[in-house]
Parts: sequence; C-alpha cells; structure tokens
Amino acid sequence: MLAGLSGAGSSRRLFEHNLAAIGNVLEYCREHKAGLALLSSSRVYSISALASIPLRVEDQAFEVDDAGRLPAGLTANGIGVEFSTSAPVSLYGATKLASEIMALEYGAAFDFPVWITRCGVLAGAGQFGTPAQGIFAFWINAHLRRRPMRYIGFEGAGYQTRDAFHPRDLAALLVAQMRTARTDGRRIYTAGGGPSNSMSLAQLTAWCDERFGRHAPTSDKEPRKFDIPWVVMDNSMAEAEFGWKIEMPLGTILEGIAQHANDHPDWLEVSHA
Ligand SMILES: NC(=O)c1ccc[n+]([C@@H]2O[C@H](COP(=O)([O-])OP(=O)(O)OC[C@H]3O[C@@H](n4cnc5c(N)ncnc54)[C@H](O)[C@@H]3O)[C@@H](O)[C@H]2O)c1
Repeated sequence: MLAGLSGAGSSRRLFEHNLAAIGNVLEYCREHKAGLALLSSSRVYSISALASIPLRVEDQAFEVDDAGRLPAGLTANGIGVEFSTSAPVSLYGATKLASEIMALEYGAAFDFPVWITRCGVLAGAGQFGTPAQGIFAFWINAHLRRRPMRYIGFEGAGYQTRDAFHPRDLAALLVAQMRTARTDGRRIYTAGGGPSNSMSLAQLTAWCDERFGRHAPTSDKEPRKFDIPWVVMDNSMAEAEFGWKIEMPLGTILEGIAQHANDHPDWLEVSHA
C-alpha cells in the first residue's frame, strides 16, 4: 500500500482526504447524534510485527507457521484487534488508525455509537482494476488483457497472500452493527475473507491461467517499501458478537470479477505497476 508516497503533494492529499475529512464526519455525527460505522483497514498494523509473523510456504502461498509461539493478536483464524499497531504502519494505515482514535473519542465525548471494522481486501466485479482498488481485481484485469505483471519482492515467487471478501458480506456486517443497541464494551472488530478466502498471487495467477489461458508474470526480487507477505483477518469476534458470517466464497468473487472484465472490454484502464 503505497498511498501518499507517489510524489509531491500526495502525502498532504492523503492526510486531507483520509484524516482531515473524518473531522467533518465526526462533527456531523455530534450535531445530529448520528451513529458512525467506520471502515478501517488491515493497514493499521505494525509493519515490523507483520513482517515478523512466522511463515511457511504451502501450495505456492505463505501461511502462518504455528509450530512456535505466535505474537499477541494472531491465531490460526488470522489477525485480530489485539495485534500490534506500533508505528510505522504506512502513511495510509496511520491515517486510518488516527481516524479510529478520533471516532472513539467523539463517540465517548458526545454520546453517539461508534463501530469500527478493520477490513481486509474487498473485492468484487466493477472495481477499477488498479492496484489501489485492491490486488484481486487488478491482477485479474491485467492477466485477462495480457498486461505485463510482476511478482514484486519476497524472492519474486508470488507467495504473498491476502484474504478477500465481497462488499455484500461487509454490508451485512454493518447492518448487524447498526442493529446492535449496546453502547459499551468492544467497539473495534476485524473482518475479511479469513483463512478460507485467502490466496497468493501465484495461486491467483494459476486461477487466471485456467480461466483465460497462460500468461506468466515476471519476477522482481527488489523488496517494496512497506510491503508485507501475509495478511488474513480474523472474523471470529465479529461472528460471535453479531451472528455474522461471510457467505461469498473467493472463487465466486473471482468469477464475478472475470465476467465483468470480460463483458466490458473498455473497462477502466489498468495503471501499470
Ligand atoms: N479494495 C480494497 O480492498 C482496498 C482499497 C483501498 C485500501 N484498502 C485497504 O488496504 C489493504 C490492502 O492493502 P495491502 O497493503 O494488503 O495490499 P497491497 O497494495 O500491498 O497489495 C497486496 C500484495 O500485492 C502486491 N502488489 C501490490 N501492487 C502490485 C502491483 N502493482 N504489481 C504487482 N504486485 C503488486 C504486493 O506485493 C502486496 O504484497 C486492505 O486490506 C484494506 O484494508 C483496500
């Protein structure tokens, strides 16, 4: 996630769009006593803590090596709320973490309900197909159109792994939160595809090869700043609290993206990495 790092003015723009803007939203909530469901990010977590998660390679993907002790906040279900948020977390992640704190403070000071959901990657048909919109739609679009693709960092093998879930599943969680009257206790949750809806770039390439015919990415072993090998979110708290569960399997999400990309040859341009 390189938001805010792409040249003059972009860090200020990130700050203003992500962090300053939340001030307007919170003032609105204060004035109207409106509740707030804030969408936060898996990017609020410490880069060094994420980079130190013990991993092994299984079927061309990183997965947690749970032979030893895992860091606080990490289980076989994925990354939970208690995982370290120590800086640096990336500029993007920092605006999200700061937004979380401001939202909690406003909610407590002005007595309106705040729910915060730290989301993994969202994926679905109709995303713009740029990396900033999410890696899954970008990768499928680039593969289908035979664009140059690269496995960046991590020895250039494409083992970096993310979970993905569909916006419809996220919407169901937000509705469940809005229907929950509780005003004390836990306010922050993690949500994403979870272990069953996770995939590496190499596995995604294999899926695309099968669907569109073979097209091989090149390898670029040079590590990217702030990149992390593995992110899978832990849904168990949200499931237990809100009786919620993701319903759309990753294969269905990928097929939806592929169909949309196929049916819209003029679909928005892929930005080249
Ligand atoms: N649609 C979305 O899901 C969306 C949009 C904006 C922000 N976010 C937030 O950001 C998080 C996703 O960020 P991230 O940091 O996990 O993803 P990321 O941008 O770091 O990408 C995931 C992986 O794909 C690889 N990658 C990224 N861009 C590439 C490119 N152009 N070419 C080749 N490989 C590339 C990277 O090596 C990385 O390991 C989400 O979990 C969410 O919280 C999500």
